[in-house]
Amino acid sequence: MNATNNPAAAGCPIASTAMLSPNEVPLDQIDVADAELFRSDAVFGYFDRLRREDPIHYCSTNKLYGPYWSVTRFKDIVEVETKPQIFSSEARGITIEDDTLGLGTPMFIAMDPPKHGEQRMSVSPAVSPENLMNLEVGIRQRTNEVLDGLPVNQTFDWVDRVSIELTTQMLAILFGFPQEHRRMLTRWSEVGSASPESGSSVVESPEARMQELHMCLGYFTALWHQRAAAEPQPDLISMLAHAEATRDMPSRPLEFLGNLMLLIIGGNDTTRSTMSGSVLALNRNPEEYRKLCARPELVTSFVPEAIRWQTPLTHMRRTALCDTMLGGKQIRKGDRIVMWYLSGNRDPQSIERPDEFIIDRKNPRHQIAFGFGIHRCLGNRLAELQLRVLWEEALKRWNKPMQIEVVGDPVPVDTSIIFRGFSHLPVRINA
Ligand code: HEM
Repeated sequence: MNATNNPAAAGCPIASTAMLSPNEVPLDQIDVADAELFRSDAVFGYFDRLRREDPIHYCSTNKLYGPYWSVTRFKDIVEVETKPQIFSSEARGITIEDDTLGLGTPMFIAMDPPKHGEQRMSVSPAVSPENLMNLEVGIRQRTNEVLDGLPVNQTFDWVDRVSIELTTQMLAILFGFPQEHRRMLTRWSEVGSASPESGSSVVESPEARMQELHMCLGYFTALWHQRAAAEPQPDLISMLAHAEATRDMPSRPLEFLGNLMLLIIGGNDTTRSTMSGSVLALNRNPEEYRKLCARPELVTSFVPEAIRWQTPLTHMRRTALCDTMLGGKQIRKGDRIVMWYLSGNRDPQSIERPDEFIIDRKNPRHQIAFGFGIHRCLGNRLAELQLRVLWEEALKRWNKPMQIEVVGDPVPVDTSIIFRGFSHLPVRINA
């Protein structure tokens, strides 16, 4: 495209950056917070350019969210994450959109020290290495049941039959939630992460979302009272109901709801996206698929590589509490700072051959999909465990390259620039 038919170069307003290739857009007009860029994966080209030419990039033109800084390099993301006293999670929420995940409710992912640390500590035992060892037996058993029930030589939706089913069953185990009602967790996760303001089709209005979330609160409050009256169990609700620091949580219903949503969404959408993304990554990289079938023990490095590849949470946001410098740029108090994990995970200055999917990388955990610092994902070991068990068991059954074959286009999730995942992935298991 030349200067005359390039609307940006001709000084015309740009409808959507997604219509142009990254080098055609003047640097100061690049706005990566555009759902279309994420849906088509075109965003990677924009991130490449920003990392090279303007790694801490200011965008003043976004109509939906307002002005924001993009932090695109791995090392700068780490710097923001390690300065919570300057870059706050609490001030205005943790997504580019003010307070979306917070739903106006307190949750510890959107708190600063010292309150953040106190609440995180009370939930941590549920995902301690000892508790995970106990949970692994149940996870493996449920994974086997799900895999045994899959059709062979027939197309089915991997997202629904495997990714949603397994993450939801897992979450029900973690909460001690009745398995027969587990799809309510899937619904609450979708409702909680939906953004009716920006055109999501999951709920029609913010009021409708709040109504459904109050049902969730009511259900969990009843479960809480049951657990509080019984002997302590290893599930999360029982742990919280019996722990000194949290036993009065239902008397602060908004905080209770906030922390429930955090675990429901955190434990559902992210791992679910990686379960689907890992199948797609193997199909698009048949050499790596062959390697995994020949050496199933590589599953332990394949799993973190699949998480890096998918990076199911594209970003987290912070708000500057004071004037400061970041990567040579002057940041003002109140500025919105967006850390693009998706970009940091493709940064060649920190990760070797970052655009390649390599299942036997030397240091596959050197990546930023789980964040860094005091807010680093609490469920990271649980997520890896679920993915490892899924692939260990799948490879025992189907160990030929391309045996789990993607047979149609994956459908990306609805209008989201934070959750990077799929709503459908047509797959066929070839006998
Ligand atoms: C926080 C990613 C799975 C629970 C986070 C953060 C990221 C993340 C990026 C924010 C880090 C930051 O601000 O520095 C992921 C990915 C997952 C995953 C990529 C799967 C592949 C899970 C699971 C659970 C979970 C399975 C629990 C059931 C949490 C919680 C936090 C969190 C509670 C808040 C931690 C804090 O603020 O201290 N996760 N997550 N996540 N995640 Fe995950």
